[in-house]
Amino acid sequence: MLTFALPTGRSLAYAIEILSGAGLPVEKLKKAGRNLVIEEGSFRYLLSKPADVPAMVYYGVADLALAGSDVIEEAEIALTELLDTERGKCVMAVAGPAAIAEKFKGDISGLMGLKVATKYTRVAEKTFASWGAQIKLLKLHGSVELAPALGLSDCIFDIVETGSTLRANGLIVIKETSPVSLRLVASRGAVQMNWTSMAEVVESIEKYVKDSAKTIQ
Ligand code: PRP
Repeated sequence: MLTFALPTGRSLAYAIEILSGAGLPVEKLKKAGRNLVIEEGSFRYLLSKPADVPAMVYYGVADLALAGSDVIEEAEIALTELLDTERGKCVMAVAGPAAIAEKFKGDISGLMGLKVATKYTRVAEKTFASWGAQIKLLKLHGSVELAPALGLSDCIFDIVETGSTLRANGLIVIKETSPVSLRLVASRGAVQMNWTSMAEVVESIEKYVKDSAKTIQ
């Protein structure tokens, strides 16, 4: 039996589409409700908070996972990336109220000393350091867009997909940093020790992703 770690939340729909397209059984997975472990055919699916998916693979409880490149980067865990699924695309960005954006105006030094709220403290620290900007970080676990409105931070560093959460909270993108998408990953150990049992399913997913990309074009 192969075990897959999958993210809950908005990425789960993309994960189900990919697995189903690759011919894996997903009927029970679609009706998971509050069940966190689903066994279907020769697969076990673990439904995990997106930020915890890389650890599920790293600690060997899952053979494979679909995880956002944002949480993979933040986890700083050495994993083998097998495929970019091109699903769940969004960008990481610095965003803030118009007044902060105005102050920034393309000059990163305008952000010096600002307080930045984020779920991604490691990535934020590295990103701002690469610009030579010293900032203060405020770690939040979600609803990051609240922070500037409440005076908890000057700006945020977060993922932006449709931009509707930013708009609803009076924030605008100041600077986009890196693109994000759902990746198929495995632990380095599993790839070395268990590749024969994973190869067929990895190839099916790869084929589905490539074929569906051609259809989309
Ligand atoms: C993510 C992210 C933003 C939002 C962006 O949060 O942290 O808040 O989605 O998406 P949008 O550009 O389409 O509005 P998520 O919905 O995963 O919930 P969270 O804030 O609880 O982490």
